[in-house]
Amino acid sequence: MPEITKKESPTPSRPPGKARRVKKEGPILQVKNLRKVYEVEDDRVVALGKVSLSIQRGEICCILGTSGSGKSTLLNIMAGLEKPTRGEVWIAGKEVTGMSEKELAVFRRQNVGFIFQSYNLMPQDTALENVAMPLTFKGIPKKEREEAAKKMLIRVGLKGRMKHRPSQMSGGQQQRVGIARAFVSKPPVVFADEPTGNLDSHTTTEVMEMIVRMARRYNETLIIVTHDGDIARYADRIIRLVDGTIVDDHPNVSVVPPEEPPKPRKAAGE
Ligand SMILES: Nc1ncnc2c1ncn2[C@@H]1O[C@H](COP(=O)(O)OP(=O)(O)OP(=O)(O)O)[C@@H](O)[C@H]1O
Ligand SMILES: [Mg+2]
Repeated sequence: MPEITKKESPTPSRPPGKARRVKKEGPILQVKNLRKVYEVEDDRVVALGKVSLSIQRGEICCILGTSGSGKSTLLNIMAGLEKPTRGEVWIAGKEVTGMSEKELAVFRRQNVGFIFQSYNLMPQDTALENVAMPLTFKGIPKKEREEAAKKMLIRVGLKGRMKHRPSQMSGGQQQRVGIARAFVSKPPVVFADEPTGNLDSHTTTEVMEMIVRMARRYNETLIIVTHDGDIARYADRIIRLVDGTIVDDHPNVSVVPPEEPPKPRKAAGE
């Protein structure tokens, strides 16, 4: 469990919208000295101590930690869903932590995909409508949106379920719709919080392979948070979080290795 201490003087949050800075090169995602303190009545919970991280384009990263170690807090702050108490997050050269709520909403739609444990699909919409949804924010015409969504649903093996609503699909199928939705707009970073938490072990394998292959196919950065060491086997890099602090960060040989580029064919006579 993270440290719980008596209330100290609160640290002011970075004012929203202040000085949006832009960087041209470097890692796709950077976290600098991130700290998050929750205040509950007179108590303070230090959910993140002082977390720094640098993630390159195309990396499949797993943030592994027990319940309460700060995984979701870290992911939500990286994705711009929550504000840190202190520190910075940069994605694709832009400082996420310096954006206003309005700027964040636009930024997330264009740069970030999400896969949730509980799928978070729109219950009244069909699989096709759910997957096409992120493209509406990009101003893509309806016909093209539907074509792109169809392609994605075929890719995740749901050709026969396009018209189904979430309640008319199994958990594994709903999560495959969630995967198609996360990747349809080809965002540079996809975040997944316990993506297989509600699935059986066979479906977990299918879903994990699908997520990793999809990220590799589009050279997208994937950040998965989980408590499950088996899920970490899919990552190229495993970052361990204990009580809001990174205690280990090492490369891993993924069970879904990057595809080898095709070997050049020998010319006749060679
Ligand atoms: N909104 C909140 N208010 C107060 N404390 C919070 C809040 N959100 C999280 N916490 C505390 O911060 C710590 C980290 O929580 P977090 O949800 O990040 O953990 P986690 O690693 O994702 O856990 P799990 O595996 O159970 O999802 C926990 O001790 C939790 O009680
Ligand atoms: Mg969590």
